[in-house]
Amino acid sequence: MKNVLVTGGAGYIGSHTVLALVDYGYNPIIVDNFSNASPKVIDRLEKLANRPIKCYSIDCCDKKALEQVFVENEIFGVIHFAGYKAVGESVQKPLMYYQNNLISLLNVVEVMHEHNCLNLIFSSSATVYGAPKSVPIYEDFPLHVTNPYGRTKLMIEEILTDYVKANPEFKVALLRYFNPIGAHESGLIGEDPNGIPNNLMPYITQVCIGKLDHVRVFGNDYPTKDGTGVRDYVHVMDLAVGHSLTLKKMENCSENLLIYNLGTGKGSSVLDVIHEMEKAVGHSIKYEIVARRAGDIAECYANCDKAYQELGFKAKYNLFDMCKSSWNFQQKNPNGIK
Ligand code: WQD
Repeated sequence: MKNVLVTGGAGYIGSHTVLALVDYGYNPIIVDNFSNASPKVIDRLEKLANRPIKCYSIDCCDKKALEQVFVENEIFGVIHFAGYKAVGESVQKPLMYYQNNLISLLNVVEVMHEHNCLNLIFSSSATVYGAPKSVPIYEDFPLHVTNPYGRTKLMIEEILTDYVKANPEFKVALLRYFNPIGAHESGLIGEDPNGIPNNLMPYITQVCIGKLDHVRVFGNDYPTKDGTGVRDYVHVMDLAVGHSLTLKKMENCSENLLIYNLGTGKGSSVLDVIHEMEKAVGHSIKYEIVARRAGDIAECYANCDKAYQELGFKAKYNLFDMCKSSWNFQQKNPNGIK
C-alpha cells in the first residue's frame, strides 16, 4: 500500500480524508500538532477504519521533526491540510497566519524534495476567488483575496505553481473547497471548532443543542434569492473522496499542476440551511436577522465540471444529508470531541 502523509489529519477535513484514503487502498499517516483537534480523533479513526493509523504529534513548522517522518516512512504523496483557517483571527493576527501557514508549507515541500516524494495535494479554498464577477465559479476565474487567511492560500498556490515550473517531475494538485459541512455517518468525527463557531453550520448545531441561544443571520439585504448569503455547501465525505480521486489521477497523469473546484455546483442561502436543519432536527430554529458580517460576499458557488470530467468527482450528498449528519455528530458530542 502507498503511504500518504496527511498533515492536519486529525482536523475536520483531514480526519474524514483519512477514512477515504483507507477506502481507496492507501495507507494514511497522520501528522498533527493538535492545536485545533483532539488526540481522541485518532482512536476514533482507528475504530472506524478497523486498523491502526500511524500518527506523529508534531508541528509542520518543526522541519527536523517533519524530516524524521520521511526517514521512517517511504511517502508516496502528501495531502497538506495543516494551517490556521479562521478569517477573522487572521485579520487580528496576520503575522501568526503568514508564519504558520507559509513556513509549514515550505517545510513540507523542502522535505518532500529531499526525500524524492513527488505528489502534493494542497488544501486550498474558494476564498481565493474573492467576490466573483459571476456565478458559478470556474477554475480560470480571476483570483482575488481580501484577508490574510485567504492571502496565505493564494500565496501558497503561487509558490507551488512556481515550484512545479522549476521541478517538472513534481506534481501538485490545488483543491479549492467551497463550504464543507456535515460529518461521517457514525457521528464519531465531525466539525469540532474551539470556542464560539465562526462558521454557520457548527453555530446552528450548537443552537440546536442549547449551547447558544439563536442563530444570527448576517444580513438579508444581499442581491440573492432571499437576501441572505448563498454558498456551495458540500458534504465533507464527498470532499474526502475528492482527495482520493485526485491521488488516483496523479498516479496516472502527465500534467504536473492540477486545479479543481470541489463543491456541488449548487448554491444554498443561509435560510435554506436553517430550513433544511429544521427538517433534520424536527423543530423550528430560532434566528434573528442582524447586520452583515464584514468581508462576506453575496454569492459563491462552483462549477465542478472539470473535477467531474477529469477525476470522476461528483458530490452525492444533498443539503438535507449534510444537515442530518452534522446534527447527528453534535448530538453524539454535545461538548465536542473531548
Ligand atoms: C456561510 C454563510 C455568512 C455564520 C469561510 C471561509 C472559507 C472556509 C469556510 C476555511 C455566509 C453566513 C455565517 C453565522 C451567518 N473556511 N453566516 N451566521 O464565510 O462562506 O467561508 O468558511 O477553510 O475559506 O471564508 O463560511 O460558514 O462562515 O458563512 O449568517 O453565524 O453563512 O454570512 O453567508 P464562509 P461561513
